[in-house]
Amino acid sequence: MKPVAFNNNVLRDGHQSLAATRMPTELMLPACPILDSMGFNALETWGGASIDAGLRFLGEFPFDRLDTLKKACPKTKHMMLFRGQNIVAYTHFPDDVVEAFVNCSARHGMDIFRIFDALNDTRNMECAIRAVNKAGKEAQGAICYTKSPVDTIERFVKMGCELAELGCGSIAIKDMAGLIPPHIVYDIVSGLKKNIKVPVVVHTHETAGMGAPSYYAAVEAGADVIDTSIAPFANGTGQPDTARMLAVLEDNPRKPDYDTKKLLQLREIFQDIYNKLGFYTDLKNEVIDTDALIYQVPGGMLSNFRVQLKEQKMEDKFDEVFAEVPYVREKLGWIPLVTPTSQIVGTQAMMNVKFGRWKMFTPQAMDIALGYYGRTPAPVDPEVKKLAQEKSGKEPITARPADLKGPGMEELRKALAAKGIKNDDEHCVIYAMFPQQLEDLYTKPREFYKLKSPKDKIPACPPPAEAAAKGPQKLKISIDGQERSVTVEKL
Ligand code: CO
Repeated sequence: MKPVAFNNNVLRDGHQSLAATRMPTELMLPACPILDSMGFNALETWGGASIDAGLRFLGEFPFDRLDTLKKACPKTKHMMLFRGQNIVAYTHFPDDVVEAFVNCSARHGMDIFRIFDALNDTRNMECAIRAVNKAGKEAQGAICYTKSPVDTIERFVKMGCELAELGCGSIAIKDMAGLIPPHIVYDIVSGLKKNIKVPVVVHTHETAGMGAPSYYAAVEAGADVIDTSIAPFANGTGQPDTARMLAVLEDNPRKPDYDTKKLLQLREIFQDIYNKLGFYTDLKNEVIDTDALIYQVPGGMLSNFRVQLKEQKMEDKFDEVFAEVPYVREKLGWIPLVTPTSQIVGTQAMMNVKFGRWKMFTPQAMDIALGYYGRTPAPVDPEVKKLAQEKSGKEPITARPADLKGPGMEELRKALAAKGIKNDDEHCVIYAMFPQQLEDLYTKPREFYKLKSPKDKIPACPPPAEAAAKGPQKLKISIDGQERSVTVEKL
């Protein structure tokens, strides 16, 4: 029996889950030679929220981090988390922007692209998978685990088979909320192992205390790789700690061999970093949070919502709002809760409780109802869909959302040139996602980043001001059957 391999996620999900994604590249460097010498299957070093946070809060140009880490860890494969057509942001981008992002990342040394879609709509992953394969790198198709009446073991296994057929070199079960119970992960992994030839990877969080037992079950079912991290950027809302997972697998025939002395050294280095990032850490993230199991929402969403409800003076409505979350999910077609849908569903649940159901329908929730984020796991409630249509004036769509978008790179190149900012592909793709933040990088003094508050958070979907700052919108309209292009500008 082949030993299970570990990925190490401390340089991305570890600090994203436990220190608001605030670990600067410079602090990572002392750990790199040891991490690189461990023989991990891959090091997760980039992607997810780390690109937004590094740029927005630390003033780091994302590709510089990748270059530096690649140089510091040359032996081990690098892995990134990639939100399909959303790349690493919160809306859909044109195919040529997705392709350019993949090509740049591949050129800078990214090896494994873990691709997911917030609605589990594989159409939103196809373009990225194709581009990764074309660049000669590994596309890892991820299935977002979520609980609902329509999400059955068979459905997850079927999605895995579909992703393998689309050309994925490995399949991941992505349990972003740490809600997967051992028997379920056992069944999904077994189903995948029976039906596909590529390796199966499991990613979970220890939020509700089920991470390690679920990994054990996954290993028993034949999972090839699991994701672990290094304490104190592990456990709690993070991945189970590498050393602990080794202990949990003691005497298991599939226990891998990782140097425990080196793990101790790593723990010391990361403890030191943790102390330095004290502003951004919170003990609440480190305890087992069984509330997450009761409410079936990601732990991060719970803590964010406690704060938001306070701001809205709705603290007394906590239970009501969380009881509303499954209602909103059901009406919107049982969508999973992961960036950006967790924020969209949460906000809508809050609005429903405050103003009455659907009295305040947020633009993002309307877009989900109308198909603008992709195909939902179950059909959207027809009345909610009709309401969204009336309130937004938009037509529902069934096509892949990115099919409505024309190419984007040329315009990005022009926009950057006009601003006097370098307009190579690297800058264009970052500008597409984070225009204001990229401009800040070249116009603000270093002090700007030092003054950022520890409480500043990454928005889960673009705030209206940011969307408006994107400038005029081009729309295609049809007059008497003739297609015309119009530009709509806000005055
Ligand atoms: Co995660």
